[in-house]
Formats: sequence, C-alpha cells, structure tokens
Amino acid sequence: MQPLTLGIKSTPRLTATCWPGHLTLRGRRGHCLRFQTAFAAAPTNSTSTTTPTTSPAVSSSGSETTIQQQQQALSYDPALDEEQQLSYQLSDVVMWAGTRRLQTQVLPIAEDTLTIRSLDWDRDRFDIEFGLDNGTTYNAYLIFGDHKTALVDTSHEKFHDLFLQALRAQLSAAGRSLDYLLVSHTEPDHSFLVPAVLDEHPDAVVVGSKVCLGFLQNLTHRPFKSQAVKGGDKIDLGGGHLLEFVMAPNLHWPDTMFSFDHGTGVMFTCDAFGSHYCSLRPFDADVKSLLPHYRFYYDCLMKPNAKSVTTALRKVKDLPYTLIANGHGPMLRYNVPELVGDYGRWSAALEKGTTTVVVLYCSDYGFSDRLSQTLAKGVTKAGVATEMLDLLSADPQEVVAAVGRASGLVLMAPPNDNADARTSLAALVSALKPKTKVVIAESYGGRDEPVDVLASSVVDVWGELLAPPLRVKELPGQQVYQLFEEEGTDLAQALTAKASIARKKAAMPPDVCKALARLASGLYVVTAQHNNARSAMVASWVSQASFEPLGLTIAVAKDRAIESLMQVGDTFVLNCLGEDTYSPLMKHFLQRFSPGADRFSGVEWFPGPHTGCPVLAGGIAYLEARVVSRLETPDHWVSYCEVLAGAVSDPAARTAVHRRRVANYY
Ligand code: FEO
Repeated sequence: MQPLTLGIKSTPRLTATCWPGHLTLRGRRGHCLRFQTAFAAAPTNSTSTTTPTTSPAVSSSGSETTIQQQQQALSYDPALDEEQQLSYQLSDVVMWAGTRRLQTQVLPIAEDTLTIRSLDWDRDRFDIEFGLDNGTTYNAYLIFGDHKTALVDTSHEKFHDLFLQALRAQLSAAGRSLDYLLVSHTEPDHSFLVPAVLDEHPDAVVVGSKVCLGFLQNLTHRPFKSQAVKGGDKIDLGGGHLLEFVMAPNLHWPDTMFSFDHGTGVMFTCDAFGSHYCSLRPFDADVKSLLPHYRFYYDCLMKPNAKSVTTALRKVKDLPYTLIANGHGPMLRYNVPELVGDYGRWSAALEKGTTTVVVLYCSDYGFSDRLSQTLAKGVTKAGVATEMLDLLSADPQEVVAAVGRASGLVLMAPPNDNADARTSLAALVSALKPKTKVVIAESYGGRDEPVDVLASSVVDVWGELLAPPLRVKELPGQQVYQLFEEEGTDLAQALTAKASIARKKAAMPPDVCKALARLASGLYVVTAQHNNARSAMVASWVSQASFEPLGLTIAVAKDRAIESLMQVGDTFVLNCLGEDTYSPLMKHFLQRFSPGADRFSGVEWFPGPHTGCPVLAGGIAYLEARVVSRLETPDHWVSYCEVLAGAVSDPAARTAVHRRRVANYY
C-alpha cells in the first residue's frame, strides 16, 4: 500500500505520513499526532481504554497520548472540504457503564469554526424511540471571532472528562478563553456540562432565551453572567462572525433558539434537523443511509410540534444558511434545501387536518416531557396534529387559546407546589369545551398533582375522559412508553373515527372499490419485539418482492401500534395462518386491545431462533425478516424486508386466503 498525499508536507519539525484512513504527524521529539479520515470504521472495544469517566479519559501508549492529539489547533481549509478528505482529531475510546463506547471527534467545519462531537456509539435509543439502534452524537461548536470566542452548547453528563479535555485543548491551542457560552436549549444532553464549563470560565457570559436562562438557574444553583436574547438580537464576535438569534420554541423544548453566523452561513439549530445516528462521517454525504433516521427523529421529536416547526422555518427563510450545525448526528452540508424542505413538507401535511390535540406538560419535571412527547407521537401517528405547551412557562392566555382550539387534551400531572402550573390549570378548566376528549397521566415526578383530582375537575366541566388516568408506578421503561404511545393513538382514533370511515368511502367509486377487492391475498400475523415491548397485528397486504436476497413487502397502516417496532433495521416474524386453522388466531389478534395490553396473553408462542420475535405455535409456517427500507404512502408504510430464516410446521396445510367484497376496508 502506498502512502497518499493530501496536501500536507513534511517539514524539518514535522514528518507527515498518510495512509488511507489514517494521517500521522510525527514531531522531532517523538510526539505523535494521529488523525483519521472519514472512511475509518467505527471503533471496536478492542481499541478502547477501560477508564471510567470518573477518571481522566486519557490513555497513553509510548509517546502517543490523547492529550497530545488534541493540543494542535485545527484550521479550516476549504480545499479539504470534501467529506472524503476531511481530517479530524479523534480521542481514544472510553467505556461507560462497562460496555458503552464514548469518544470525541473534533474538526473544523467553517472559517474559525469547529465542532466537538461527542460520539455515543452504543446508546441504543432515546426513551421514546423504539428502533434505530445506531447510537447518537451530541454536537457542540466553537467559534473564534477576531476578539471574542463562543461555545455553542456543551454535552451529555457522561462526556464530562472527554468533552472538557477536547474543549481545553482547542482553547489552549488557539490561546483563547471563552467569552460566550450559547445555550440553545437546556435539556441535559446538551447543557449538563454548562456548570463544569463555567467552573473553568467563570467570566463567560451565558447567552440564551429568557426561558432558558430561568431553567439554567435551577441547573447551576449559583450566579453566572448572562445575557437574555430575543429573536433578531445580535452579538458580534469580530472578524465577520456576527451571530443573530432566532427563537424557535418547542423544538423541542420551550426554550429553544437557533443562532446564525452571518460570517460563515452556519446555522446552529441544536435538536432541530438532527438524527440519532452515530458515525465518523460528520456530514450528510451518505444521505440514503441517514434518511430513515432523520425521518424517525422528526416523527418522534418534531412532529408533535409541527406548528412550531412551520413557524421556525418561516423565521429563518430569509437567512442565507448553507450549513446546519445541529445537536445530534451528521451536520447538514450537502442536502440542506432537501432536508430542511422535508421538515416543511412533513409539518404542512399534518397541519392540513382541522382536528388537533393540545398536550400540556411540564418541562424539567419528572418524566413529564418524555412521556408527553410519547403520547403526542401516538396522536400524530394517526394523522392528528398536536400542540405542546409547557405549563411551567406558557402564558395562561396561551393555554386558554390552545385548549379552546383543540378537540382533545392530554394533561400531564404538574407538580403540586408550582404556582404557575396552578394558574394555568385554573385557566384551562375554564376554557375546556364540553365533550373534549381528555387523557390524564402521571408524570412520575415525585410530587404530582393527584390524577384523580385532575380527572374530576375535567369531568366537572363536561370534559370526557378517554380512559382512567395513566399511572406510572416505576421508572418508565419501554412498556410504559409503549402504553403512552398507544393511548395517544387511541385518543386520535377516537377523535377521527367517523370522519376516517367517511373519507375512505368517499375516496373510491363503487365499481373501482369492488374491482380492487378482487386482489386476493393471504392471511398472516406479524409479530415484533424490541427489548420488553411486543406487538402483533393481522396482515394481508403481504407479497414476495425479490429472489436474491429473498425479500418481501408488507404494508403497515401508519397508526398501527406495531409500526413503531418496524423501523428500518428492526426484525419481525411473519406468521402464516392455515386455511383450516386461521380462525382462532385471527379473531384473537383482530380484537381491539387497550393501550399497553399484552397481545400474546393466552396465545402459545416461542421466540424466533434468529430474531427472538414471537413465532405463533398455531401458524403453519413462519419467516423471520428484517426491514431494509420503507416507502411512504398517504396512510401506510410499505416495508421492503429481507428474509433471514423460515420454517414450515405443517407441510400439508395451505395458507388461508383473504377475499373481500369491497376494497375500502381490510
Ligand atoms: Fe437533544 Fe432536546 O435534547
């Protein structure tokens, strides 16, 4: 293998050697700087140090140390601005909780601007997301103006040592200290290390929205210099780096803001336009791989706030941004109009409907935000828009207006000792329209307002409880999140059932409806499992789709509970029902299950040998498969799936055939 040249020359003080995937700069005193280029693979445990994060995250082997790697200033070279040629500094791997690999990656992204990406390789999911096990990143940014230096966001608690090391190294190499710490929003995955950064830079001014600075007081428990900014406010770092702030509340916390650098065209957006996708490739060049993650992230975190997404897009439409520096996953450089445009299209599609559900939660209290987000995701799965409002920071008039507009209400129990929440609760009771469908749920915050009291105050003003209040008796796990999501879908379906049937009937001329029903199909039960969350559904829109590899397609309605377990990369089992034996299984799985109910109670099954997903003992054959890609139709996801394994239990039996008279139902 011949060394490559990437425009870096050896000098008397520095020897450069570049192999595909690695660039090594060796100093005269034996110090070694090791870079990797973007084609390097994800790290394996074998290269890791096993140092816990409570100890300095530095490993040493001879003269190569992580600290030495990071004590080199990085500069931006537009000539190297192709992803295949990018160089970056990569820390050694540190293990978290025994098995989770953590690492930082530092690289320049624009003039005087670099990112410190905290790579959380093995974070398997965020609470409300069941699938896409590709880890995540927490992205922070440093901007070196001519006379001021700003850090945009920090990192997750678990990156305490790694992040601070990287930050120290870059500031030290540039001979700078921090003048500003921009906090785009206060969820701990980006803001946990704010106090630690302020310990090292006590004179830094914390910049954020007014709501954000209020939240930060609770986080830091000490005074700090601060500057509250509004939309349109600017801070000049010098050298053309004029930062303009855009308020983007509810994306996805009430305090979120974007920051736009007029000098570079970089827009810092924190959660918005992100994805939970950990890769050494810092940008969106491989958009095909990224898209399912980008979409799923939007569905989970942004879709419940579609209206706020639309508002934020309107506010930034005239800003000449060319790079989206987000808080999670690859930054957007190569597909900015398309990917930003997706947010606009997806949000507009949801906003077309007239039925809405308002979701009242409390940020930074117990599990209120995550559980409410999960409920809202369930609502939006059924095509109903939600509007999320934080009871602790929203104006009571805002609450009244939102409740007045809504057909449904989700109320997460607020803390019983908060005056703002009490005021908003009194206001919403006065605004509730009779027969508004209501879901009330505990927040698992330790001092929840009793849900029975909340329920009776709703019933007193003629609200209709969809079901008894949801109670959370233990630290929410995947089953609790599944319950909340399904409750949200139930609420949306209760609000739209009549209109939905009428729409389906109106959509098809009678003759076409009868003709389409002549497409016969088999009868199956799809079963899926992710950790301890399981689901199942009767399916008939199934077909073989390829020979090599063996593949099939399956259509799943968007509002099906199992849809959350059938994301790209997820596995499932397709159970074939026999023509003489299908009836009991079909009846069982066609019943309407209450949210969170165990679909497999009373059914004999065993775990599939390749996937662990339930195989029904009463089926005549089964196939284990993995979702490879998904095609979106207006009301279904059509998944193309690779078959992994299969077996026949009854070679003599034939598959049940499903025939219909009309095509506007299954
Ligand atoms: Fe990535 Fe809302 O935190």
